[in-house]
Amino acid sequence: MIEFVNVSKTYETGNRAVKDINLRIHDGEFVFFTGRSGSGKSTLIKLITRELKPTEGDVIVSGWNLSSIRQRDIPRFRRNIGVVFQDFRLLNDRNVYENIAFAQRVIGASKREIRENVTEMLKLTGLSAKYKNMPYQLSGGEQQRVAIARALINRPSVILADEPTGNLDEKNSIEIMNLLLDINEMGTTVVVITHSRELVESVDKRVIVMEKGSVIRDTNGEDMRRPISAFFSDYRPTGRSRRERSVRVQEEVYRPEEKAVSELHPEYNANDAADLIDTDEVPWEAEEPAANGRSAGV
Ligand SMILES: Nc1ncnc2c1ncn2[C@@H]1O[C@H](COP(=O)(O)OP(=O)(O)OP(=O)(O)O)[C@@H](O)[C@H]1O
Ligand SMILES: [Mg+2]
Repeated sequence: MIEFVNVSKTYETGNRAVKDINLRIHDGEFVFFTGRSGSGKSTLIKLITRELKPTEGDVIVSGWNLSSIRQRDIPRFRRNIGVVFQDFRLLNDRNVYENIAFAQRVIGASKREIRENVTEMLKLTGLSAKYKNMPYQLSGGEQQRVAIARALINRPSVILADEPTGNLDEKNSIEIMNLLLDINEMGTTVVVITHSRELVESVDKRVIVMEKGSVIRDTNGEDMRRPISAFFSDYRPTGRSRRERSVRVQEEVYRPEEKAVSELHPEYNANDAADLIDTDEVPWEAEEPAANGRSAGV
């Protein structure tokens, strides 16, 4: 379970990005987070991965209280979660197989385990024929499938995806969403941030809407006053019937006039979060594979 208890996060700049959040995501749930640019969605995800530490309150993930977790326990905690990014973040000098195997090498899996597990992930993501391709020899959708395989290979209980279809066309977006739905059906908790009204509407799953750091709507909660579509500025009824399993709709960004946070904050780069002001921050890519094949500290 992922639990937020009175959680606030104020950045060094004084920006209160997340304000007094209380929510629970149960094991096996599929949850969308949506809301305008700058509403705090990525901050919330980074609190779950312990890239950021809450300024107030507690974030509890799979039994770990991330406000009090020891620095050296963070790698072990993170084996419970897989993360997928909008820009894929593959190792560009390694092929598909190696990109997926990398996550297993980090935890010191044996050669045989790695071969079996990578083969299974290649099948699941439909990439068996492309295991030797380098990332530049793949389409965007295929690159994202590699990223999902890599996130999943250590069998985490949670997958967090921050705009996984943000760089993809309609067809690839649909494929990625269907893959995430399949993964959820196999028992993994899946949390997806998206700006796409069409995606949110096409799948009948829990939707949490953020605004200015607060949760203003949760389809799991009591507040059912407004239809979810009312939070999308250009909403107009489409008359299309909703489908539970398969996404067959057009990816649509509903606020093209807004800029990405990285553009608004050129100094902000998740890759070098270690260099940032907040010494409590622990970047996601902190861990390197152990030289002797065994992971340190486990
Ligand atoms: N490292 C940082 N330092 C200071 N302020 C930050 C930092 N990262 C984000 N912010 C600010 O915190 C707020 C929430 O940002 P966040 O990235 O969580 O928004 P978001 O909902 O993910 O937006 P988007 O949809 O554009 O990705 C914004 O006001 C943003 O400017
Ligand atoms: Mg974001």
